[in-house]
Amino acid sequence: MTHPLSIGLAGLGTVGVGLLRLLAQNADLITARAGRPVIVTAVSARDRGRDRGVSLAGLHWHDDPVALAADPSIDVVVELIGGADGPARHLVEAALAERKPVVTANKALLAVHGAALAHAAEAAGVPLAFEAAVAGGIPVIKALREGLAVNRIARVTGILNGTCNYILTRMTDEGRDFAEILADAQRLGYAETDPSFDIDGIDAAHKLAILAALAFGRPVAFEAVHVEGIRAISALDIGFARELGYRIKLLGIASSVDPGASEAGIEARVHPAMVPEHAPIARVDGVFNAIVIEGDFVGRVMLEGRGAGAGPTASAVAADLIDIARGRATPVWGASAGSLSTSPSVPIGQHVGPYYLRLMVVDRPGVIADVTAILRDQGVSLESMLQRGRAPGEAVPVVLVTHETRESAMRSALGRIAALDAVMEKPTLVRIEAD
Ligand SMILES: NC(=O)c1ccc[n+]([C@@H]2O[C@H](COP(=O)([O-])OP(=O)(O)OC[C@H]3O[C@@H](n4cnc5c(N)ncnc54)[C@H](OP(=O)(O)O)[C@@H]3O)[C@@H](O)[C@H]2O)c1
Repeated sequence: MTHPLSIGLAGLGTVGVGLLRLLAQNADLITARAGRPVIVTAVSARDRGRDRGVSLAGLHWHDDPVALAADPSIDVVVELIGGADGPARHLVEAALAERKPVVTANKALLAVHGAALAHAAEAAGVPLAFEAAVAGGIPVIKALREGLAVNRIARVTGILNGTCNYILTRMTDEGRDFAEILADAQRLGYAETDPSFDIDGIDAAHKLAILAALAFGRPVAFEAVHVEGIRAISALDIGFARELGYRIKLLGIASSVDPGASEAGIEARVHPAMVPEHAPIARVDGVFNAIVIEGDFVGRVMLEGRGAGAGPTASAVAADLIDIARGRATPVWGASAGSLSTSPSVPIGQHVGPYYLRLMVVDRPGVIADVTAILRDQGVSLESMLQRGRAPGEAVPVVLVTHETRESAMRSALGRIAALDAVMEKPTLVRIEAD
């Protein structure tokens, strides 16, 4: 039999231990599909004494994960430590310098340093694989980069963070506010003790930056992603969304846009969005992730599944290992670094679309006229308006839905509206997506 593929595994947390279990449990199937056994020979983590619920007997232990790169018994380095910098980055750079293939689940690393790492992998002539970095068990990297490679992609839309989707789903189902559901999610282990990476949209933005690079064949540009999280979404807005026929989801959207006046380019944004309740993505609930890809020949493709967890994430890591065992390799971003596109990033101010605006205004004559006059001055036209309840002299919610509007105009109007003395709270603005 051909010699086994020998793995050096850095990180024995949720995903690392999941990978050890998977490689043991499905060893026969993996050997058949890889054409040879895939075995872990060396490992590294911080705490050597920790009981991880799996046997590490017979595995070589390295206190320093970077030492895995130089270990001559290792063919492939698997990085499952996490973080854009620090030991994860050092290890990946060292492994590529040693001309060893790398598999990682680290979206932060890929989003922030992916362009330089792709150059390093290309120079070394080895694969840098990262199926697990986006949407866990969903094979979206392969789908976009290989399965749909012949298509010009118009748009990629994703529910890319399970924690946010879980919180928004429960807020929708139970009519409860964000802080309450977040606390409950933390208690149940669906949200981290420090949840900011998830709920402020950073995690989704890392994943979207990776998807945008693959979809549009250009270097990864995390800093160009516009990011908003879900902290400002209230039960009140979710209720109004329902009344208007929408669901609120945290979406990552990367699209090829041409807002006019030579502004064509790629728009990449992560923010809460209203989607029609009948849209397939509106029905992706709880911790599930989904990605909708629109290509010129294939049409619309939707993938849905578990975006995190030991099993799904290990499934994606192990699939990359089979590719490497078989010698299958694709350039990191789908095309060699020299042939990537140079299409510019379009800033969020140039976004064009309809908006939902919710104000808390003092219930007295003339207030709505003041608000609509400001919108008119900025060229914003209204599709509909909702006002619920009457409480003379007190604050009541007013909802305005606009026709297609340029974001910069909407923002100017919003600044002036927020400054009106009849407007009692910071207004809530949510972008509306067609579907
Ligand atoms: N969890 C998921 O569902 C999921 C899904 C998709 C992608 N990912 C990505 O997969 C990666 C791993 O995630 P995870 O959830 O498995 O993380 P985790 O449970 O926190 O595990 C991290 C592991 O890295 C080790 N580690 C940390 N610092 C180290 C250092 N300086 N030297 C050596 N080892 C070190 C830790 O060692 P100790 O155990 O000794 O502390 C631990 O074993 C991350 O990039 C994450 O974004 C995770």
